[in-house]
Amino acid sequence: MQPDTKRMDMTFSRAILFSLILAKASALTNSHIAVSSPDYCYDPYRWCGPKYWQATFQYCTSDFMESQSPVILNPFHMMRNRSMGPLELLAYDVLQSEPWIIKNIRDTIAVEFNPGMYLGGANLPRSYYTFYMAFHWGSETTNGSEHIYNDRRYPMEMQIFHLVPPYQTLNEAAFTERQAVAVLAVFVDIGPEDNPVFETISRAVPTIPLADLVSGAGLTLSSEQKAALQTSLVILQKNYKFHRVLFWGKILGIKGDYFIAQGLKDDEMRDKKTLYSFDCMDWDLLPPPTDEMIAEVNTAASGRFMGDPSHEYEHTETRRHGEGDEAVEEDIVVKVSEEKRLATTVFTIDQEVSVVPRGAYIKSPHGTVQTNRSFEGLSVGEAGKLSNYLHFSEPKCLRKPSILEMAESDPCRDFLDPLSEDIPKGSWSIQFERGSSVCVLRSLLWLGLSFYHIPGTPQHGFVYMGTGLKNLDLPFML
Ligand SMILES: *[C@@H]1O[C@H](CO)[C@@H](O)[C@H](O)[C@H]1NC(C)=O
Ligand SMILES: *[C@@H]1O[C@H](CO)[C@@H](O)[C@H](O)[C@H]1NC(C)=O
Ligand SMILES: *[C@@H]1O[C@H](CO)[C@@H](O)[C@H](O)[C@H]1NC(C)=O
Repeated sequence: MQPDTKRMDMTFSRAILFSLILAKASALTNSHIAVSSPDYCYDPYRWCGPKYWQATFQYCTSDFMESQSPVILNPFHMMRNRSMGPLELLAYDVLQSEPWIIKNIRDTIAVEFNPGMYLGGANLPRSYYTFYMAFHWGSETTNGSEHIYNDRRYPMEMQIFHLVPPYQTLNEAAFTERQAVAVLAVFVDIGPEDNPVFETISRAVPTIPLADLVSGAGLTLSSEQKAALQTSLVILQKNYKFHRVLFWGKILGIKGDYFIAQGLKDDEMRDKKTLYSFDCMDWDLLPPPTDEMIAEVNTAASGRFMGDPSHEYEHTETRRHGEGDEAVEEDIVVKVSEEKRLATTVFTIDQEVSVVPRGAYIKSPHGTVQTNRSFEGLSVGEAGKLSNYLHFSEPKCLRKPSILEMAESDPCRDFLDPLSEDIPKGSWSIQFERGSSVCVLRSLLWLGLSFYHIPGTPQHGFVYMGTGLKNLDLPFML
């Protein structure tokens, strides 16, 4: 164990660092990469805890495996081995020319590096190339580090994975050879100010889960589109001074598809601006919908979207004035651009089917709707009930609550309409996916809208990928 703070301080101020070289395959494979089922946890007292991983997951067992995470470091039992040289981080401080890719791999966020950085020194048998980086973090009430130092878990742990060539995947390296993987773990504590070094990663976080869900919805984004979104949404946020920018979805057109993003300001429900793009790089603001615009669109626009914002829809209506023989017929032409239709469609989808879990948002005393920073997610039991999901739009209050419900309700919390009150009933499908780790809701009214929530975590989001046409047959399907 060899604290090597001087070098890393350049990169991660206020990060408490320990170089933690796990030369055996132990501890690596179970942590988050290979596991595709959620049936594991870090709680030492539960059946899903580290003690049982080897029994539950066959692939966590190998000839090299002697122990499991977490590594518990006790500074009173640790001594510096003076014959070990310092760790060498080669080219860690060189500005990389190619962008790194930040991905949601479900259990954590992974940053994929391009080749060019190496780990060596410290009597390591070989030189290791950086492969990828992942994070373990908790919530405001729990600390999330995987490993423990001096009886303490830290709020976050960053793990940089290194492999020896020619291995290209973690599993291949870990199961084929001893000492083919080296992990550098960094404990991160909470300081009084935001650390600008982490900004790029933390800013990308809100947009990642959506991109991940998209691939599950059948219609996918290409990796170029995802990479472009990750860069351009950050730029949008800066230029327009948004609090957050979320990828909203895609509306399919005949000649081209519209990618849609939304920038949020103080009130996340009402203060939003919608933007569209064809290439995920250049974005244009959509006009805010007005009643007049909505009426024009409803009259004139129909059929598939063209994929051309300047396309004009035209509708001619014949109106009769006067009575009997004196009646005059007049043709009234209503024209509307596809850009306005797009604005109206996104607005209508938001009004009718944007969803949040109960408790995820709070209404401040000033009436602004903001994220509930202490939201920890619905329990698995709660997540299966439609009544625990709310429309993220002005409540219509179709139903008056009973006196009993009024007594139990909290105006701060219960300011949105639950999906369970929707008419027609049955316009939502709700199911658990990926071994019940994700709860997915799909709208049958706006086919292509999927919402997901990971129970026990604050993560949720929705994405729309479809033709932008409402399913008017729904009442007949139910
Ligand atoms: C100290 O490090 C050297 C070089 O890696 C190693 O050979 C030696 O066994 C270590 N000493 C102890 C007490 O672990
Ligand atoms: C969690 O982290 C905080 C902030 O670093 C620390 O004060 C606290 O002791 C930690 N709690 C545990 C249980 O490790
Ligand atoms: C905020 O989240 C916490 C934890 O999930 C929950 O107990 C609380 O009721 C939420 N607050 C509101 C106002 O919904």
